[in-house]
Amino acid sequence: MKEKAGKRPETLLTHSGRHPFDHFGVVNTPVFRASTILQETMAEYKRPKGPREPRYGRRGTPTTFTLEDVIADVEGAHGCLLASSGLNAIAVALLSQVKQGDHVLMADNVYGPARNFANHVMTRMGVETTFFDPSIASQISTLLRSNTSVVYLESPGSQTFEVTDVPAVAKAAKAGGAVVMMDNTWGTPLFFSPFAHGCDISIHAATKYIVGHSDAMLGAVSYTADMEESLRAMSGWLGTFASPDDVYLGSRGMRTLAVRLKQHQESALAVCDWLLSRPEIERVLYPPHPSSAGHDLWKRDFTGGSGLMGVILKGPLQQASIASMLDGLELYGMGASWGGYESLILPADPSSNRTATQWRENGQLLRIHIGLENIDDLIFDLGKGLDRLQ
Ligand SMILES: Cc1ncc(COP(=O)(O)O)c(C=O)c1O
Repeated sequence: MKEKAGKRPETLLTHSGRHPFDHFGVVNTPVFRASTILQETMAEYKRPKGPREPRYGRRGTPTTFTLEDVIADVEGAHGCLLASSGLNAIAVALLSQVKQGDHVLMADNVYGPARNFANHVMTRMGVETTFFDPSIASQISTLLRSNTSVVYLESPGSQTFEVTDVPAVAKAAKAGGAVVMMDNTWGTPLFFSPFAHGCDISIHAATKYIVGHSDAMLGAVSYTADMEESLRAMSGWLGTFASPDDVYLGSRGMRTLAVRLKQHQESALAVCDWLLSRPEIERVLYPPHPSSAGHDLWKRDFTGGSGLMGVILKGPLQQASIASMLDGLELYGMGASWGGYESLILPADPSSNRTATQWRENGQLLRIHIGLENIDDLIFDLGKGLDRLQ
């Protein structure tokens, strides 16, 4: 692609980062498996190298740069760096911005291990974390301290699906001198640009929709120009690395992200409509659905929705009834992770993972990932499951 400017996201997903004529016209950048990278002469060995001229495999190869470029281009970032998992990406991003004595503000709905990282690793470094209600918006300014270095968000929260007013939080946080970072795994680089909404750093569990086929672990951190030096330095110090085979799968996933997500969203909306017609359902937590909490903010800020949602059953229910519903499902696997082509379902209990807010729902929360199966088959299977609740 000669010119990126003016190209729309689907076109960038298809063309960004590829340079076929650097390798025999082969469409995809090959998997470069590398530790040693040879230099031809002593002068070349001694020549100071740019970021795209690594002297060692850990620093990346053209396989890595392809995925970094397509993520950054689609998300509207200055650049992107890859990590071995989403959690590794969270760790690099946070560590790159804190020092001893700092204070961090973290939304109460974040992915549990991000909270653990704050509570168990950053506390050891003398960094204190305060958790806050994700609906706080500009009131975040009341929690900012002179030593608050980071405000960390996840929107929608991947278990409870609250949508944060990211521009309002980011504006207040930036005015107080904090860096704003956000876990954008649900929105993907395609449906939400943290950078267009005031954030400095965006984190992805690329394991989910970017890889898209449940067969690799991968993380990504995209960033504005101001963040590049601190992030790249921390990633170098930590030895952060993503395996070339997994990175290749991430690039391959990106090429089809738009068509996959379109179907995930269409099917998820259809399943929500159908669920709401069933007497066993209290409500759905899926911001793209007009009945869902967070719909207005989602509509204002996002350009689409992925396939992960919450469903609250009318309660109270015996655990045995819920087990009978879930155990008998044919098409919904029970397992952590999401974003692959297949449907999943899990019982969830957010109450143990919160400190600033309370989870007040009485009914059982189910987290459902709507995959790419036929919509009628997905609904039929869920219907039989709901019948078993009684
Ligand atoms: C929202 C979110 N962020 C980060 C992660 C961590 O990603 P990984 O499993 O690749 O470490 C997950 C994993 O479930 C997640 O759901």
